Amino acid sequence: MKPSIYLFVLPAIVLLLWSGCSNKEGPPPSTAVYSVNGGTTSHNNGQVCLSCHVAGGTGKYNFVIAGSVFKPDLSTPSPNGIIYFWSESGGTGDLIATLQVDAKGNFFTTSSLLPGVGAYPQMRGISGAVKTMPILAFTGNCNSCHGVNEDPIWID
Ligand code: HEC
Ligand code: HEC
Repeated sequence: MKPSIYLFVLPAIVLLLWSGCSNKEGPPPSTAVYSVNGGTTSHNNGQVCLSCHVAGGTGKYNFVIAGSVFKPDLSTPSPNGIIYFWSESGGTGDLIATLQVDAKGNFFTTSSLLPGVGAYPQMRGISGAVKTMPILAFTGNCNSCHGVNEDPIWID
């Protein structure tokens, strides 16, 4: 074997082995957890989710946004809606993020979807009804107000 070929082949083999190894490991798994329409993993409808789902709390995941949605009777869960987060009031400006409500009428995510400047949450129910929060939400701890000193979030 000519030295020049040897010099080329050896690094090529090393490169092949190296990339083979790193391919086997694969990309790091996404650790974000979030509610989806039809999902049933949540519980404790109406409770203040972030009282437990915070660092040092009993819940495994630290939620950035979490809460519950009810039917107009304010007690039956309203499942499978969608929450939009807008930069301007009344459902205008940039659509910052969306989050699906699960089959138990709860929503949650570990993703930092809410910008520091806040956002206007908008709720869309399965009937197509839409309601928009008239003021900025700065925290995703929705049930800390709704169901405590405000009406629960409700939609048909
Ligand atoms: C009294 C404490 C407490 C409250 C309040 C609470 N949780 Fe939990 N939650 C837990 C514990 C404990 C578990 C089981 C351990 C885990 O998986 O985090 C859990 C599990 C979960 C899971 C399953 C996570 C998984 O393993 O896939 C979801 C989803 C969830 N909670 C959502 C919510 C939502 C949404 C709310 C508010 C409506 C809420 N939780 C309120 C304590 C609580
Ligand atoms: C600091 C307290 C507070 C927090 C936190 C909060 N809200 Fe609100 N929300 C309000 C107030 C006040 C109103 C206006 C009064 C009302 O309609 O209940 C409102 C109204 C709403 C409405 C419209 C209700 C209607 O009947 O027209 C929706 C939808 C809503 N909020 C969703 C959310 C979501 C989703 C979150 C979490 C991302 C959230 N809110 C967090 C205080 C809060």
